Amino acid sequence: MATNRTFTMIKPDAVEDNHIGSILAMITEAGFKVVGLKFTKLSTEQAGTFYEVHSARPFYGELVEFMSRGPIVAAILEKENAVEDFRKLIGATNPANAEEGTIRKRFARSIGENAVHGSDSDENAAIEGNFFFSMLERF
Ligand code: CMP
Repeated sequence: MATNRTFTMIKPDAVEDNHIGSILAMITEAGFKVVGLKFTKLSTEQAGTFYEVHSARPFYGELVEFMSRGPIVAAILEKENAVEDFRKLIGATNPANAEEGTIRKRFARSIGENAVHGSDSDENAAIEGNFFFSMLERF
C-alpha cells in the first residue's frame, strides 16, 4: 500500500545555480507538505553509502564526486501518493526526456547533474529519510 511520505534532495548543481527557493516553491505549490528539512553537505563516504545501490554502474564514481562537492537540501515530504506524485513532478532522470513543467526540465543541467532526487519506492523513501533525519527532526 502506498504511504504518504517521500524523500528528496536538492542536489549540488541546483544549489550552486541558486534554485533552492524556486524548487521548494514548486514542491509546495504541487501540494506537498515539508515535514523535514535540512541544509547539509555529504562526505564522499556518505554519498557513496547513499547511492550504494548504483555501485556497479559506470557513473557511480562521478555520481559520488558530484553529490559530495557542495551542499544539498534534504527534505521529507508528505502528500497522498507521495512517491509516485513526486516522481511525476520531478520528471525523467535525463532532463532531455523530462516533460514541460517538471523540476528537472526547468533546472537540471544533465542526466548526472539533474537538480533533484526523488525516492523510487515507499521502502526507499523510509530508508533515505532515516539516513538524514532523526525522529526529532521530522514533524
Ligand atoms: P537520482 O534520481 O538521484 O538517482 C541516481 C542518480 O544517478 C541519478 O539521479 C543521476 O544523478 C545519476 N545518473 C543516472 N544515470 C546516469 C548516467 N547515465 N550518467 C551519469 N549519472 C547518472
